This record gives sequence, C-alpha cells and structure tokens, in this order.
Amino acid sequence: MSTQPFALPIAYLNGKFVPVEEAQISPFDRGFIFGDGVYEVIPYYGGKGLRAREHLERLQRSLDMLDIANPYTLDQWQAHLSELVAKNGGGDQAVYMQVTRGVAKRDFAPPKGLTPTVFMMSNPLSQPSKALYEKGLSCVTLDDFRWGRCNVKSTALLGAVLLKHEAVQMGADDCVLFRDGFLTESSASNVVAVKNGVILCPPRDNLILPGITYDLMIELAGKRGVPLEQRKVSRKEVLSADELWLTSSTKEVIAITTLDGKPVGSAEHAGKPGPLFWKMLGFFQDYKQELRALAAAAE
Ligand SMILES: Cc1ncc(COP(=O)(O)O)c(C=O)c1O
Repeated sequence: MSTQPFALPIAYLNGKFVPVEEAQISPFDRGFIFGDGVYEVIPYYGGKGLRAREHLERLQRSLDMLDIANPYTLDQWQAHLSELVAKNGGGDQAVYMQVTRGVAKRDFAPPKGLTPTVFMMSNPLSQPSKALYEKGLSCVTLDDFRWGRCNVKSTALLGAVLLKHEAVQMGADDCVLFRDGFLTESSASNVVAVKNGVILCPPRDNLILPGITYDLMIELAGKRGVPLEQRKVSRKEVLSADELWLTSSTKEVIAITTLDGKPVGSAEHAGKPGPLFWKMLGFFQDYKQELRALAAAAE
C-alpha cells in the first residue's frame, strides 16, 4: 500500500532522505512493540521553524526522562529539519519527528547501547478557516485516566487515542480532561480558561504536556499586558468560564464554544469565541507575520 497520501513526498529515516513510501522500519523496533519512543511536531512558516529550538529542547527532556541517548546535536537536528522542509517544497509545513529506543529482541528491560531510530515526515500546514474560528470547537468533559508522566511527549498515546475516540463517538470535536477535579488538558492540546479578563492556565507539572504554544501564549499575554495566572483550575471554574481555548502547534489557539452540549460564556458571547480569544489570535498572527518577514529577509 502506498503511504503517499499520508504525508509530503520526502521523509527522513536514520540519516537518509527517502521517498515516504520507501521508509521502512523493523517490526522489532521498540517504538512499534512498546511505544518506547518520543516525538515532536514542529510548525514551519515560510520554511522557517516556529520555536524549533524550544521543540528540540523539549525533545531532549523527553529523551532524558526515558534514558534514550539523543542521536543528534541541536544544530544537526535544525539542519535535518530545514533540509526536509526544503525538499518538500518549503512554505508552511508541520514536521513530525520521532525517536525510538531502537531495534532489539522483545524484552521489557531496555538493553544498553541500542541505536535510536529516527523518523521524520512532513505535512502541509494550513490555518483553520475563518468559519472554524468563528464557530469554535465542541468538547466534552472526561476523566483523565492517562498515566502520571504526561510531561513526556511519548509515542505511547493509547490513553489520548481512547479519550479522543470517546469524545468523537459522543459527537464532539474533542475533550477537556480533569484529574481529581482539576483541569489538565485535551487529547492533543493544552486548555486554558478565561474568567473576568484573566487567563487561567493549569500548572506546568507532570500531568500535562508543557506545550510550546502554551508557553508562547503566556509570553504574548505578558508582552501585551493581559493578566494571567498559572495555577490549578477547578472543574467549577472551567464550567463557569467566560472563555475556553485550546492551544497546540498545529491549531495555535482556537476557542471551545460548547462544553458538554452547553454554550461556553454568557450574554452576547455565549457559545461564541470571546473577545480575549480574538485578541490572542491577533497576537499569534502578528508573531507569525514577523517570523515570515524574517524568513523572507534571510533569503
Ligand atoms: C497532550 C498534549 N498536550 C498539549 C499539546 C500542545 O503542545 P504544543 O503546543 O507543543 O504543540 C500537545 C501537542 O501535541 C499534546 O499532545
């Protein structure tokens, strides 16, 4: 079966750029057998990575937490990533990169000295449509039953897959997760609430993935003087929030406009993206514009 439609034509596998349909790995790869690996998704705009360094630093932290040696330096990663994006035509792309512990006889205890497997592919990256921004997303609240190390960006994603599956089966776009009565995140995005003009962000602990977009949002809010609190956010606060947003590298920031079938927010904003959402979306667009201008100037 051709994998051609699944990604842009050129992939990267263990030091070589190859046609994506020719990228093959061993079934003994521990990534396949155990999900023993980590990944990143890095957005490129105008051929230039948005926060690529921060993604690569998070990759390093994920690898460290699994005791897998990083096969490349930061500069080597940057070079491979840029080459992959260029070979796939430049422009706006989302690069998926994965490092697994490598190929070995099936045994839970990881043998020492394995050569990590490195795979990268890319997909076109397009911004959500204006209509989607205006409509926002519908979410359902679910109990976060994932493991206790959600700060590792692991390829073992069965918890997230089952939660998203449940949300979609319930007719929603995605889920908002709670653990012990407090907000964690969504299946593949961070979640923040807005109350009385203040952005409420769950703490950057082991129960969420420390999102690069979440950090960028905090930075942009700080620069533009939008009040923000990083602290535990209760279920009650989420259910009575004026606004709820998802953030991720591919979605950037998008509003959740219905939660458990009820409109988010009140009065004229009920069930619609709120005023602070539009402001934050504008901050993101300005930031990307600067990035594109820098990329063009460097050419
Ligand atoms: C569970 C989870 N939380 C949050 C995020 C958002 O992270 P980022 O902004 O770095 O894309 C992701 C992205 O894949 C994710 O899988």
